[in-house]
Amino acid sequence: MTLNIESYKKIRVLVIGDLMIDGYLWGDVDRISPEAPVPVVAVKQETTTLGGAGNVINNLTAMGACVSVAGTAGMGSTGRLMLEKLKALGVDTGGIVDEPDRPTTKKTRIIAANQQVLRIDRENPDEISSVTLEKVTRFLEKEIPRVDLVLISDYAKGLVTKELIQRTVQIAQKSNAITIADPKGLDFSKYQNISMLTPNRKEAGLAAGMAMDSPEALVRAGRKIIKTARLDRLLITCGKDGMVGFDSCGSPFTIKSRARQVFDVSGAGDTVISILGLSLAAGASFQESAAAANAAAGIVVAKVGTATASVDELKGALS
Ligand SMILES: Nc1ncnc2c1ncn2[C@@H]1O[C@H](COP(=O)(O)OP(=O)(O)OP(=O)(O)O)[C@@H](O)[C@H]1O
Ligand SMILES: [Mg+2]
Repeated sequence: MTLNIESYKKIRVLVIGDLMIDGYLWGDVDRISPEAPVPVVAVKQETTTLGGAGNVINNLTAMGACVSVAGTAGMGSTGRLMLEKLKALGVDTGGIVDEPDRPTTKKTRIIAANQQVLRIDRENPDEISSVTLEKVTRFLEKEIPRVDLVLISDYAKGLVTKELIQRTVQIAQKSNAITIADPKGLDFSKYQNISMLTPNRKEAGLAAGMAMDSPEALVRAGRKIIKTARLDRLLITCGKDGMVGFDSCGSPFTIKSRARQVFDVSGAGDTVISILGLSLAAGASFQESAAAANAAAGIVVAKVGTATASVDELKGALS
């Protein structure tokens, strides 16, 4: 393998995406509320982590990459916490826009005796306003020429519109920056002309309007997506079945998944786009990059919670 993991440290990455705070309230239940037939959770501890596009950033900074971000966050305590966490990772937050009536996205899990009993979401998934789009665009015009790689982490929270993607692609093409998006939704035409997409099998099936009931069907769906979204490359992730990559001609290659013991698959997609992007930007081939992303995702799913892989762990997995 010609891929040098150490060279990830030299890669400059811009993440454009839906930033979130994942909150966890840990407690115990020993009584039912006198007010309503619901359990009362006595909270013992509260923890918060960066989620959504923020978890892509966690994966990138764990590899030592130099990261800037464009997204939205509010000015309240959750937004301030988000900025604090990003700054602690050394991330340039100059592209974060505060939009009136758009709270900082937060998903709070209530966990009693290690069992999730409720999740409370605060978010506004409406499309960003034209004012926000212009503010973000100004940042992109300044930032994209300075980076090697642009990762778009779409969690359907309103930032990643077709217009924003098309502006990103246009700017990135001028400086030859690689653009990769982890897509959401049924209409992949919004990602047109991006270098690469990384849907999971279900997302790819829905976007292609095809049942993914055989390897042949998956290949047909992949080819259809490559064509309709005019992609250079496509990587469909298939959970425990690994991943299938396609070049612009639609020739597929398959990579088997790596983890033997799986604890938590959440966030595996964030690891895939991060390591795939860093590897391509470091000059590795598509297949090598996908293999590295697969190895990193294998490390992450074997850890508890939404985790990241370290440089040493990834080196070990690839040697
Ligand atoms: N059970 C598993 N065993 C081994 N590897 C796995 C497993 N689940 C996921 N992976 C690895 O993670 C990659 C991405 O997983 P998946 O296809 O589930 O993405 P995803 O649905 O986008 O994940 P998420 O949205 O939870 O972040 C897979 O291609 C594989 O490399
Ligand atoms: Mg995903």
